[in-house]
Amino acid sequence: MHAIEIKKLSKSYNNGFKALKNINLSVKKGEIFALLGPNGAGKSTLINIICGITKYSAGKIKVFGFDNILNYKRTRESIGLVPQEIATDSFEKVINTLEFSRGLFNKIPSTDYLDGVLRSLNLFEKKNNQIRTLSGGMKRRVMIAKALSHEPKILFLDEPTAGVDVNLRKTLWKYLYNLKKKGVTIFLTTHYIEEAEKIADRIGVINDGKLVIIEEKKKLLEKLGEKELIITLEKKKIDLSLLKKKYGFNLNGNQITLKYDFKKKKRIASNFLNDLTKNSIKFTDIETKKSNLEEIFTNLVRK
Ligand SMILES: Nc1ncnc2c1ncn2[C@@H]1O[C@H](COP(=O)(O)OP(=O)(O)O)[C@@H](O)[C@H]1O
Ligand SMILES: [Mg+2]
Repeated sequence: MHAIEIKKLSKSYNNGFKALKNINLSVKKGEIFALLGPNGAGKSTLINIICGITKYSAGKIKVFGFDNILNYKRTRESIGLVPQEIATDSFEKVINTLEFSRGLFNKIPSTDYLDGVLRSLNLFEKKNNQIRTLSGGMKRRVMIAKALSHEPKILFLDEPTAGVDVNLRKTLWKYLYNLKKKGVTIFLTTHYIEEAEKIADRIGVINDGKLVIIEEKKKLLEKLGEKELIITLEKKKIDLSLLKKKYGFNLNGNQITLKYDFKKKKRIASNFLNDLTKNSIKFTDIETKKSNLEEIFTNLVRK
């Protein structure tokens, strides 16, 4: 069973705007899934729909096997949500907010559990402070503590590190990684490629309401580093067998296509050109391409 299963999900807002278009996505239990995309791509819409805060127009969503509308109470219990906008003006004490939130889900009060959450987020000393007196970074961590107050099995974080300084960002990544080790499934949205790179097990890229990529991070990074060198030879019939053995390129007519991992083999393109010259092989054109994925990313991140 998956933590989340989304099938053919679409969302049109009341004004007719299509925010999500036929989303199919499964999130595995215990993984960190990062949904990457630029502003307005539909990230918050998707999170809010899974959490049952926003209605969808078509499709089906299951959270730990339960339909998120038919079994709303059941699914909501297993979910902790850290929304994109943090409430900052609360006169409430930190601990009261957590206790209240825990109570909403009919959980038995547990000072031990809540103290543990506060300690792990370096908030224990602020337990009895009013939320409005805390720094921005602390407020953010209070929101995470609050989302965890009822011991959810899956934690959603909507842009947890937007506008957060580097130190806090790193602390939060570490914290999320530790949560994962405790068995909590994590679903976060971000518009930072670096964030997805650092902590995600799998990455989904959303653009204009469409999920354009879902991939294991490792595979995605391999593709990201891939480049192509395309060389047009002056003559067609040249013996290239030795060079082919060395570089493993593709030959099509008088066109050579060499794919290589830019991160691992930075010098391969210049070595190859040197070898061509050394062997007096003339070429009329040369072109390099980045992998499509990188183009997609670059386009996505450009706002
Ligand atoms: N209540 C709403 N009514 C109409 N359009 C909305 C509403 N909420 C969001 N949108 C639009 O839906 C798109 C996706 O928004 P959102 O999910 O917030 O994107 P993201 O979180 O990726 O920045 C945006 O174009 C946004 O303007
Ligand atoms: Mg958003």
